Amino acid sequence: MKKPSKKIVVATANRHKAAELSALLSLPGLEFVPLSDFPGAGPVEEDGRTLEENAVKKARSAAAATGLRALADDTGLEVEALGGAPGVYSARYAGEGCSYADNNARLLRALAGVPAEARRAAFRCVIALCSPDGSTVTAEGRVSGRILEEPRGADGFGYDPLFLPDGSESSFAELAAEEKNSLSHRYAAVRNMLPHLEKLADEQD
Ligand code: IMP
Repeated sequence: MKKPSKKIVVATANRHKAAELSALLSLPGLEFVPLSDFPGAGPVEEDGRTLEENAVKKARSAAAATGLRALADDTGLEVEALGGAPGVYSARYAGEGCSYADNNARLLRALAGVPAEARRAAFRCVIALCSPDGSTVTAEGRVSGRILEEPRGADGFGYDPLFLPDGSESSFAELAAEEKNSLSHRYAAVRNMLPHLEKLADEQD
């Protein structure tokens, strides 16, 4: 008899990220469900000092609210010439409630006059998987590149129009979704999380 799928809640309110993660996560024996299916599970304040702290906080809170295992990620853009900023503050770099365009404009201002070779940057993503009993594993993914002098491309989200991944002629926002997914920090983090998910799929509850 076929084993029933184990449900894992994907704890993100960001529909772009939810779509990317669902496209990357397809494993027999596991069913990924969005946190929005659970109206009682409210948003979590992302006040950690590191990506790891925020990812674990989001996954733990979703696991406690739903009684299911939960997966959450936190991502930051780390720019070498800015000492690793905006990093964990990437979402609100230009201030509380700012838009992606505001963040990109602030980043361009911060790097004004910095030559191409000194505009090195990386997206870093940490994924946490938590059980309702509190046990937690994390995995990390990273993609290196540089910050362009002006936005290029209309796809993607966030800092995608300003990020040129190493080895590519196209910014993240100029790549088709599948191409970006295959290069992305989130994909690398998911790949590093896969052994834990596969083990879970095989375990008896
Ligand atoms: P989050 O906390 O994981 O939602 O990510 C923080 C911020 O990083 C987002 O608001 C985006 O501005 C940016 N970000 C995260 N992932 C990506 C990506 O794949 N491309 C571009 N920007 C991203």
